[in-house]
Amino acid sequence: MERRSFIKSCTLLCAGGGLLSAVLQSCGAVYYASSSIEMNKLKINKKEFIDAKNVERKFIVIRNDKLQFPVCVYKFNTDYVALSMECTHQSCELQPNKISLVCPCHGGEFSNKGVAINPPVDKDLKQYKVSTDYENIYIEL
Ligand code: FES
Repeated sequence: MERRSFIKSCTLLCAGGGLLSAVLQSCGAVYYASSSIEMNKLKINKKEFIDAKNVERKFIVIRNDKLQFPVCVYKFNTDYVALSMECTHQSCELQPNKISLVCPCHGGEFSNKGVAINPPVDKDLKQYKVSTDYENIYIEL
């Protein structure tokens, strides 16, 4: 490979990597928030919705050894919606983005409020009861 061709290839590769990163961020890369379980409730600090650049996240994901499937929490102004990430079709783990949760197994899709919107899913996601105080979000398991 000639030097000029090599440099051109490297430049395109770097530009592609930057573009991929920008695309991933714009479609809402998954952030795994820290949490604790107290009296059968998941407790999450509201600060988990703020990123290092002080920008608000649209959603966060909670993984915990005591959960069979992760919980995805979406923020709508001052309200929160907590959804199980277990697909209601055949129990695959869903992949969340800013506006929906997509199933990698058969392509089913749910809205960010848990409503089944694309087949083969026809049953809404399990939604957890959420409460808040000044500092934290509590999800009843
Ligand atoms: S398991 Fe999710 S669409 Fe089939």
